[in-house]
Amino acid sequence: MNDAVLSQTLPRPFDTRRAVNLSVKIWFYIAAIGHTIFFAYILAVFYPPIAESGLYGLKGLHLPAGFREGDTLGNLASVSHVLLAAIVIGGGPLQLVPAVRRYAPNFHRWLGRSYLLAAVISSIAGLYMTWTRHTFGNQVSQISIAMDGILILVFAFMAVRTAMARRITEHRRWALRLFLAASAVWFFRVALMGWAMLTGGWGVDWESFTGPFLYALGFGQYLLPLAMLEWYFYCQKRGATPGTQIAFVSALIPLTMFMAIGIFAATMGLWLPRI
Ligand code: HEM
Repeated sequence: MNDAVLSQTLPRPFDTRRAVNLSVKIWFYIAAIGHTIFFAYILAVFYPPIAESGLYGLKGLHLPAGFREGDTLGNLASVSHVLLAAIVIGGGPLQLVPAVRRYAPNFHRWLGRSYLLAAVISSIAGLYMTWTRHTFGNQVSQISIAMDGILILVFAFMAVRTAMARRITEHRRWALRLFLAASAVWFFRVALMGWAMLTGGWGVDWESFTGPFLYALGFGQYLLPLAMLEWYFYCQKRGATPGTQIAFVSALIPLTMFMAIGIFAATMGLWLPRI
């Protein structure tokens, strides 16, 4: 039997690189569905009252730090925060769909600039609200979300710098880091509701919004996705072993299943009831 016949009859080794790409693709499309639901929630809950009452739009809504009588700058920050959140949550996944990049390059460029600006202004507004108003949780929650705001600013800066220098591979990496840091607030809601559904809310004091699970999630909402992203970058390298790639897929599959449960729980428990 010659080599050509042999290679056709022997079973092909399992293609671990393809498995990595497929698992990331499945993760992405499930995350995109979850982002779309949160996007619809932001549009339905915040846009109509703000369109009607301007800076008074968040008065009486469920956000404890949304409106303060007489604090014009703070109210401007919270109103712009939730308005721009729609561009961040709706635009982020769209920016990563290959077909959009390929068939609508102008839209991709325009959306990229809007996304970046929205993420930066929304983060600065969020940092201002966290510093000047007492929001949910305690100082641990404030420090962990503030760190996310700072990461968003750093990643946005690096994404612009590498784009201007035409270092496209690096730009792609910083843009993906920015996407995950800017979506951390989405991960937080999804993981919290998924956890509440599976464990009944172990480690969460709902009254004070504190507790060990919330502290871990405060940092985990961006550290875990960012760590998985670095692992994914490593798996794409030429020298990555099949063992590392299989370990990556084995970690991503249960995380994706947990994310899907969390999207269902957040949709039913947080978003749908308010739409
Ligand atoms: C750029 C990504 C971000 C997005 C898309 C986003 C989105 C949102 C949304 C939709 C709300 C309304 C809450 C809800 O109905 O679920 C909200 C509230 C809030 N966000 Fe953000 N956020 C982001 C980043 C941040 C950062 C980095 C901080 C702080 C440093 C922050 C601080 C806050 C605060 C203080 C509130 C009000 C909570 C309250 O009233 O108690 N956000 N955000």
